Amino acid sequence: MQKLEVFGAKKLKGQVKISGSKNASLPILASTLLSRKKIFLNNLPKVKDIETMLILLESLGSKIKKNKNKIIIDNSKQKKTFASYNLVKTMRAGILVLGPLLAKFGKAKVSSPGGCSIGVRPIDIHLRALQKLGVKIKISQGYVIASAPDGLVGSKIHFSKVSVGATENLIIASCLAKGTTTLSNCAIEPEIQDLIKFLKSMGCNIKWISKRKLKIIGIKEVGGGKYSVMFDRIEAGTYLVAAAITHGNLKIYNIVPEIIKTEINILRKIGANVKVKKNLIHIIGNKKIRKVNIKTAPYPGFPTDLQAQIMVLLCKANKKSLIIEDIFENRFMHAAELNRMGAKISIKGNKALVNGNTNFAPAELMATDLRASVSLILAALCAKGKSIINRIYHLDRGYESIEKKLKKVGAKIRRLN
Ligand code: UD1
Repeated sequence: MQKLEVFGAKKLKGQVKISGSKNASLPILASTLLSRKKIFLNNLPKVKDIETMLILLESLGSKIKKNKNKIIIDNSKQKKTFASYNLVKTMRAGILVLGPLLAKFGKAKVSSPGGCSIGVRPIDIHLRALQKLGVKIKISQGYVIASAPDGLVGSKIHFSKVSVGATENLIIASCLAKGTTTLSNCAIEPEIQDLIKFLKSMGCNIKWISKRKLKIIGIKEVGGGKYSVMFDRIEAGTYLVAAAITHGNLKIYNIVPEIIKTEINILRKIGANVKVKKNLIHIIGNKKIRKVNIKTAPYPGFPTDLQAQIMVLLCKANKKSLIIEDIFENRFMHAAELNRMGAKISIKGNKALVNGNTNFAPAELMATDLRASVSLILAALCAKGKSIINRIYHLDRGYESIEKKLKKVGAKIRRLN
């Protein structure tokens, strides 16, 4: 199994190009199933989750040509409606093929994704909403067996909780439903805005009618198109933290700073010097790191996917900080590993009290999920000496060429087989 070896503590200096967004690419790829025309996609990140989604699409009959981070998808002969457990179990976003398959064929059998290390992660909100569009659902042997023999019919749907995945599945499904659908209490994450832009570019009729409410008028057929996926805001946030924590000096580019205002404000509060330009952020880390309290929340709140990374930074703050994790119930697994490196973090339910003034000591570490893995790299980057991070397959699910990007800005990091 591959590992990463990191020698801290080096200041990071230079430029980092941010890749395309994994979490925007996944629903966009799933939504291509709506179309029977050729679709050209650009700026997809080269990460494992995208590979898995492409394999899933191919298993459903999509013809895909890849060329670096561009792909051409041809769904003119795509007919299958079965998404297997083997593919969905490794990547929860596999459930996103349910909406488009139902919209196009009126039936689908998709493995239920099950829980994962950060929480139970049910799909009840997706299923209840699809039922409102006229879908009959049966759960059998771990599969969602769904059918709508007369097609989907537009409806008024209010999500009981803000869910990124459920909002995406329902937006996609509603594009081909008969009549008008309104979706309220929607997630408004930038990745959702990107999905909507893509669907509109293929002819779908989608409109925001208030902050969290969408109106979608079903169309008969979805066209083809060309689209470039947005930047990965979580990757960008991770490198901003890397600069702050190593008192480094990084220019992060290929981004839209406006989208990560919340994160920029937090980094400024902590004491980093952040200059914002058009498609670039220049950050200089300050020796003095100030405490800050954080609560994760749906966009535009602070993202749960950056909680682990900011926790590492707060371990270095001058005083105690409080982190409240309000999205997932079990997302502090990294805290125990950070404590093994000398951090003083105590967890009570969904609250983490992070004592500051930590001098991280190097250690051999175990990654538990995607964002937890990267938080261990961040801690290792400021621990003097050699750290080893095991189980980095989690990391490869969502960070493109992380060791190459870090090496380029001065980190001493390498992959061991
Ligand atoms: C997406 C992101 C993930 C991010 C999360 C929250 C992708 C591929 N993944 O995950 O990186 O951490 O948003 O920003 O884009 N819930 C239910 N029932 C449901 C659906 C969700 O109870 O049917 C709960 C979840 O368990 C969680 C909360 O709602 O507690 C939010 O989850 P959701 O926004 O749906 O996250 P994902 O779409 O799975």
